Amino acid sequence: SRTYVVTGSASGVGACVAGLLRERGDRVVGVDLRDAEVQADLSTDEGRERAVEEVLAATDGTVDAVVACAGISAPVPTTVAVNFFGVTRFLTGLLPALERSQAPRVAVVSSMATLQPVSEAIVDACLADDEDEALRVAGTLAEQGPQVGYLAYPSSKRALSRWVRRECVTTAWAGRGIPLNAVAPGTVLTPMTTQLLSTPESVAMVDAAVPMPLNGHQSPESVASLLLWLTDAANTHVTGQTIYDDGGADAVLRGDDV
Ligand code: NAI
Repeated sequence: SRTYVVTGSASGVGACVAGLLRERGDRVVGVDLRDAEVQADLSTDEGRERAVEEVLAATDGTVDAVVACAGISAPVPTTVAVNFFGVTRFLTGLLPALERSQAPRVAVVSSMATLQPVSEAIVDACLADDEDEALRVAGTLAEQGPQVGYLAYPSSKRALSRWVRRECVTTAWAGRGIPLNAVAPGTVLTPMTTQLLSTPESVAMVDAAVPMPLNGHQSPESVASLLLWLTDAANTHVTGQTIYDDGGADAVLRGDDV
């Protein structure tokens, strides 16, 4: 059995991943704000560092895989702190523990929102590992109202997918034999989207932005099963990918641009 660290394990996709792993006998250390083995706030460096320390204590220092699901979609700067830095800095802190595994693997949850308009200033600040600047820009956007503030979400996810692509081939990741990938879902039926899908009008708006001709809205299981494959020992050569697991949204929106 393998030891998995799952962030966002208290709800939605993360809870589904943790449940499937436990069912098949793997060991799971969940990380979340509450209802988790490690309760920590991944939106701050203090919380990230404490989360890494507690994970190391709970695992005797060896981690076979990390599945990073924790994320929020609010039109506020914290979205960038959780979705980007709460992934990249947490993962970087766990690299020594992953290196001790025979078959270390990492997968993160991005989004089809990578395809939506972004704030290039936020994306650039994220990729420069400049959290203060990323939060400052997101703050100025949030002041212009929720529609502009929402840019924090697609920006955090596009930066995350790009970070995966840049990092995966470096000595830190490929050099340690660690595949690093992202899954980009469409509209998943979890607490994150319950309110968004609560009226026919809001459903129509969501579906116009996220067209899913194959099977419509998706279950957390549809995302979890791919995350499990990417973090399985069977995955030896898939790395740097953002796999659109989205009912065709990417194919509709991006067409031939592959
Ligand atoms: P969810 O809201 O059900 O679960 C997210 C979990 O992350 C919660 O348990 C929450 O407590 C945790 N979390 C939030 N902030 C945190 C923090 N500061 N520190 C530690 N944990 C924190 O959401 P869902 O739908 O399961 O989302 C999982 C991932 O999938 C997210 O990264 C989200 O952006 C992504 N995603 C979701 C889609 C959807 O339609 N639901 C679509 C595309 C991507």
